[in-house]
Order: sequence, then structure tokens, then C-alpha cells
Amino acid sequence: MAYYPTSFHPFLAATIIYIFFLVLYCPPIEANSDVGFSVNLIRKTSPRLFPQRLRGLSAMSETPQSPIIADLGEYLMELSIGTPPFKIYGIADTGSDLIWTQCVPCNNCYKQLNPMFNPQKSSSYSNISCDSNLCHELDTGVCSPQKQCNYTYGYASDSTTQGVLAQETVTLTSTTGKSVALKGIVFGCGHNNTGGFNDHEMGIIGLGGGPVSLISQMGSSFGGKRFSQCLVPFHTDVSVSSKISFGKGSEVSGEGVVSTPMVATQDKTLYFVTLLGISVGNTYLHYNGSSEIVEKGNMILDSGTPPTMLPTQLYDRVVAQVRNQVAMTPIVDDPELGSQLCYRTKKNLGGPVLTAHFEGGDVALEPLQTFIPPKDGVFCFAFTNTSDDRGIYGNFAQSNYLIGFDLEAQVVSFKPKDCTKNT
Ligand SMILES: *[C@@H]1O[C@H](CO)[C@@H](O)[C@H](O)[C@H]1NC(C)=O
Ligand SMILES: *[C@@H]1O[C@H](CO)[C@@H](O)[C@H](O)[C@H]1NC(C)=O
Ligand SMILES: *[C@@H]1O[C@H](CO)[C@@H](O)[C@H](O)[C@H]1NC(C)=O
Ligand SMILES: *[C@@H]1O[C@H](CO)[C@@H](O)[C@H](O)[C@H]1NC(C)=O
Ligand SMILES: *[C@@H]1O[C@H](CO)[C@@H](O)[C@H](O)[C@H]1NC(C)=O
Repeated sequence: MAYYPTSFHPFLAATIIYIFFLVLYCPPIEANSDVGFSVNLIRKTSPRLFPQRLRGLSAMSETPQSPIIADLGEYLMELSIGTPPFKIYGIADTGSDLIWTQCVPCNNCYKQLNPMFNPQKSSSYSNISCDSNLCHELDTGVCSPQKQCNYTYGYASDSTTQGVLAQETVTLTSTTGKSVALKGIVFGCGHNNTGGFNDHEMGIIGLGGGPVSLISQMGSSFGGKRFSQCLVPFHTDVSVSSKISFGKGSEVSGEGVVSTPMVATQDKTLYFVTLLGISVGNTYLHYNGSSEIVEKGNMILDSGTPPTMLPTQLYDRVVAQVRNQVAMTPIVDDPELGSQLCYRTKKNLGGPVLTAHFEGGDVALEPLQTFIPPKDGVFCFAFTNTSDDRGIYGNFAQSNYLIGFDLEAQVVSFKPKDCTKNT
């Protein structure tokens, strides 16, 4: 769910195609379109880091850890905000930075089943003054007549949140079960939030690399600026949670680990890695977009985008190979499915296995990670195309891998894991 400054407009055509994809796969959600990356984001970069504000931390031996559950194509991460702690379930999003939740009073909020956060009921809430440097960390912070920092934060899907930038105590659970309180975390109290959010989603938890993200605000307070996530497969029951862990202890190591370098660009938010090619079964297809050259950082790892999006040049060849290797006839007569590659079958396909050849190693993808049932008895290939030369490695393909983002070593690591098993 890449963030884009609101002055930018993503390519409309791409947006429409993508929203269509989402409507199909996960009916109520379209807040996760990520095509905004396809414009070159010219964003003010922020060399300033936040002042150290993690006071009163409990022992460093505790690794902050949060439950994370599947939510129709998104993943909801649990954390608490305020004093006393108020539970929030926000979309875990490595494609954006801001942490925000719907707040009362609501000028214009989408429907939410759980109560909304009320700043008046929290003793640790404070508005950020627009004179403060913190206000200007966000490109879109503006001064309200009351000198508050009003923000607008938009996503490529045309979802936006508007509200007041504030600071709060954020509480996470930990490996030892004790809670870990982070004081003075900058977040958006969203009073006007629009887009295709569903009523379980209470906001977004930005896990990108920019200064206002959760991981950047934690910094290395917990023994290293890193985190790891294990996402359960799409359609896993909400009663089954997995974990997202931060700092020391969140390393992804041991047998079967594949690591790939992060590629630094002007965009501090997004995690770029390099994909050399994709194999369908034993057939290797090299990465290409508008040229044959494999650019460094051609894929964005985004937990807020469900499908994997490939440049059309590569996508078309991948789809042709999948068709070739599946011994069934694709569905052609269902307008709801459009031009997607779908098959009528009671259970998921037996193959083929796809392999993502990242710089540094290979990540194998089983049909569970590449075919998604939009409706009963139908499985569709969960990749889509983009006119951009950069692709997105989406959350379907990230499921059942423990994926570590080490912001200090600038490495992303993958380890196959059954994320439904809490070990
Ligand atoms: C924060 O700003 C809101 C909106 O103007 C105001 O109603 C509220 O009293 C302020 N809260 C604090 C703690 O200053
Ligand atoms: C600032 O945000 C508050 C709360 O959303 C809103 O009522 C007010 O109109 C905004 N002011 C400006 C100048 O945007
Ligand atoms: C809410 O935000 C939308 C999109 O940014 C804007 O067009 C609208 O005027 C805002 N509404 C209110 C009540 O502030
Ligand atoms: C991409 O690779 C395919 C297969 O090698 C080739 O047919 C196609 O022309 C390439 N496209 C570009 C723009 O280089
Ligand atoms: C996606 O692919 C289809 C056919 O494979 C093509 O018609 C469409 O233009 C492509 N979309 C983009 C955004 O490249």
C-alpha cells in the first residue's frame, strides 16, 4: 500500500485495473492498491531522525511482538495505544510509514465494528504543535488555526486519511508476555478517512523505512533496527494468528534462509530488492520490463498489497508458462473473473511451483502462495501486471515465509515456515 504525496496522481488506468483485481479477490477491500509506486516519487527526504523518545523501556531482553491475523487480503496487526491501553487492529504495511487509526470525533470515517480511539480518554495523548519539527517530518503536515499539525496521507488506491498528528504511548506485547510501552510515538489521529477499508480495519500501521514508521521510531532500542513477520496463508481463520517481532530475537537465521540485499533509493519508505527472474516449474524466465536490463531494486516488498505485480513483459511470459503447465482448461466464460487466469477446481492446484530468483537466492512458491480462491471452487493465479518496470512482491507470495527486514544490515531474509504453527 504505497504512500504517495497527495499532490501526485498515480496512473489512472493502472489504478482501475488493480482495483478490479482486488474487488475480485477480496470483495470489501480495495484500499491496498499499490500502483502509486509507478510514478517516480519525488519526495522531500528527511535526514533528521526523531529524537530519542523511547524512555522507560523495560529490559532489552524482551522482544516486542504482536499477533497478526489474515483479513481478506490484508493482515491486521494488534497493538495498543494510549493510557489506559486501547487495542487497535491496523493493517500491517511495509509499503507506507504513517501509523494512524480512526479517532473520535469523526468528521468522516468509514464504518468500523470496534469502538474508535478517543483521545480525550487517554492521559498520555498530546497533539503535536505545527511549530514542532515532528510536524514537518510528514510532507503533508499543515498548520491549523489552533496551531495543530493537520496531516493528509494518501495511498495509491485513492484511500486517504486526514487528521491531527499526535503523540501517544504505544504498547506491544512481547516474547515474555510482559508488555512493552513505547512513549511519544508519533501517529495520526484520523478524523476523515476514506477508501475501501473494511469494518475490521482500524487504521494502518506503517512499517516502511521512512522516519515516521513504527520500526523507524523504535530505532535500535530493542537491540537492532529490524523486524520479522510470518503471514498466514490467505483465508486462514482469524482465530489463527502469527507474529511480527521487533529487534533482538527477530533475526531470521538457520537452515534454509535466503537473503537478498535491500537496494537504497531516494525513496526511504519502500523496501526495494532485486529479482533476476522467475521460474515456472523448470522453465526460467528472466526479468524484463521495457528493456532487457535487470535494474537493481526492481521489486518492492509490500505487505499491504495482496497480489504480486510484474511488468507486463514478464507477466505475460509467466502466465503463458503457467497455462502450459497446468493440465486444466482455464475459465473463459466468467465476466466476473475478467482476463485473469482461473481454474474450476474444488481444491487448490497441485502445481506448478514458481521460484522467485532474488539476487542472493531462490524463494520457492507453492500453489498455496500463488493461487487464491475468489469464490468457491475457483482458483485464480494471484499475480497481476503493471506497466511500470518495477514490480511488487505482494503478501500472498509472502505468506508461509518468515521474512526478516534488517534495516541496519540492509538485507531481507526469507525462511520457509508454516506460519499457522506458533513455534
Ligand atoms: C488536540 O486538538 C484537538 C482538536 O483541536 C482538541 O480538541 C484537543 O483538546 C487537543 N488535545 C490536547 C490534549 O491538547
Ligand atoms: C484540522 O483538522 C481538524 C480535525 O480533523 C479539522 O476539524 C480542521 O478543519 C482542520 N483544519 C485545517 C486548517 O485543515
Ligand atoms: C475528507 O477528506 C477528503 C479527501 O481528502 C476531502 O475531499 C474532504 O473534504 C474531507 N472532508 C472533511 C469533512 O474534512
Ligand atoms: C523480454 O524478454 C522476452 C523473452 O526473452 C523477449 O521476447 C522480449 O522482447 C523482451 N522484452 C524487452 C522489452 O526487452
Ligand atoms: C496487462 O496485461 C494485459 C494483457 O496481458 C494488457 O492488455 C494490459 O495492458 C496490461 N496492463 C498493464 C498495466 O500493463
